[in-house]
Amino acid sequence: MHRIIILDKLAPVGLQLLQDNPAFEVDVRTGLAGEELGKALADYDGAVCRSGVTITPECLVNAGRLKAIVRAGVGTDNIDLAAATRAGVVVMNTPSGNTVSTAEHTIALILALSRNVGPAFASLKEGRWDRGKFQGSQLAGKTLGIVGLGRIGQAVARRAQALEMRILGYDPFLAEDRARELGIEPAETVAEMLPRADYLTVHTPLTDETRDLISVEQIEQLKPGVRLINCARGGIYDEAALVDGLKSGRIGGVALDVFAQEPCTDSPLFQMPGVLATPHLGASTEEAQAEVAKEAAELLTEFLTTGGIRCAVNVPAFDAERLTGIAGFLNVSHRLGRLMAQWPRTAPSRCRLRYRGDVSGKDTKLVTAAFAAGLLEQALEQDVNLINAELLLRERGIELATELSDEPGTFRSLIMAEVTAGDETLRAAGTTFGNDMYRLVQLNGFRLEAYLDGCLLMFQHRDVPGIIGAVGKILGEENVNIAQMAVGRASAARGGDAIGVLNLDDPPSRDAVERIGALDALRDVRVVTLPAWDELPSWLGAG
Ligand code: NAD
Ligand code: MLT
Repeated sequence: MHRIIILDKLAPVGLQLLQDNPAFEVDVRTGLAGEELGKALADYDGAVCRSGVTITPECLVNAGRLKAIVRAGVGTDNIDLAAATRAGVVVMNTPSGNTVSTAEHTIALILALSRNVGPAFASLKEGRWDRGKFQGSQLAGKTLGIVGLGRIGQAVARRAQALEMRILGYDPFLAEDRARELGIEPAETVAEMLPRADYLTVHTPLTDETRDLISVEQIEQLKPGVRLINCARGGIYDEAALVDGLKSGRIGGVALDVFAQEPCTDSPLFQMPGVLATPHLGASTEEAQAEVAKEAAELLTEFLTTGGIRCAVNVPAFDAERLTGIAGFLNVSHRLGRLMAQWPRTAPSRCRLRYRGDVSGKDTKLVTAAFAAGLLEQALEQDVNLINAELLLRERGIELATELSDEPGTFRSLIMAEVTAGDETLRAAGTTFGNDMYRLVQLNGFRLEAYLDGCLLMFQHRDVPGIIGAVGKILGEENVNIAQMAVGRASAARGGDAIGVLNLDDPPSRDAVERIGALDALRDVRVVTLPAWDELPSWLGAG
């Protein structure tokens, strides 16, 4: 049973989808914050929120069983993404469900601002019929500057074109040719747009680059009488600078749906003529809320029931099919990581993974993450998974490099791992036969074919008769059964150095390992424990 917490008010259609699923137990707990929120999150597998709740790093320090947070909406600025990634929690959003509603709200504000709809009605309610005071301006023929030509920016452009406006746009991630195809004149900088736009609207996230995008200096460049609209995120316009710009008359009007601090019920702007404001209503339509709630419920259902990830904002997306298609490689890589974690006697400083053959054409980023998870998971208290493994590795100063080669070798696919710890470098390579027969085929220069599961007794020895018999005798006296056995040489010649790997049904006692280590011709005896052959990591569908 997966436990789901709903942290903000969610449209009934989304809630119903989750509640109707017999695999889910759903609790609606709105208004949580701080420590109480952190404690609550740790008790659930998945969370759904809108913008009301604030998920700080402190809320995610002990993430417990939490695996996913879905934001029913676009902006994830109320969730600390770095902390979520570190905690191994995937964060997803619903990027398109409220695009149209927000674009329509932007157009509504442009029109209302131009025709003084708000103040004219206020004056009427006060008993005045003041036709002269509220003369507005027509949109047709005017220039609208749009900063940010993503989903909403483009939807605003299409609607403004229907109103016969000329569109100037700036977005560093939209090719100029594409902008022209959309009927938008591309600007090279925001500064270039400022003296030309009669209206300026922003549709970017709030980032270090977009914070105070329009402040005192930019306001001086604006076309006199310009009207500014923000339905994206508070903070993109410097609110104090807007007050001064309105006072000086440089700015003709301001319409804001979003504020640097929300809720915002008291702003000097609210008292000024030419200002129109709404309380973050861009996505507040029945249609948008139903759509984002439905999308959020679907994303969380897919993730919790199949492991598939879509619309993630902190990790690469992968669906269940993609995961299943590479499950064998993920397993081998994870097992190699687990093996190597138990090998060096000092902390690793560098890992190198080389993918050869078919596997090099697969999603090696995930296969690498599986190795990193295997390497770290037993050392760390926290849950380590495909989402946070690489980050956790790098945070510990462990370098991770990968190389791909599609050249065929002895095996159709080979995953070669190298871990450097102190002055020791361990090399191991694995492959999968069929779908789920995981094999260790190279270890420190020795070629062999050992099962990559369960308890492995590994030792180096001189390639002389009687070694396996002597080891087997000690294990027999301990009543430890040998399930599988592999020996390998560095070359085809007899008599040199060799390696032995025995799969044991039970771990040998320390005394047995010491006795084996004391055998003549034997050295470097180690016991390594790997998952059973049918045991999957939780991120691959188990647990
Ligand atoms: P999007 O990701 O589709 O588009 C954002 C665009 O901004 C991208 O094309 C990106 O290239 C561009 N961009 C990023 N940095 C830029 C910069 N420095 N200069 C110029 N362009 C830059 O997102 P979207 O769905 O269009 O949403 C846009 C914003 O609207 C988001 O902040 C979102 O949170 C907000 N939003 C608000 C409401 C509301 O209720 N008011 C509703 C939905 C979305
Ligand atoms: C969003 O980012 O989706 C909007 O701000 C709307 C909302 O918060 O619901």
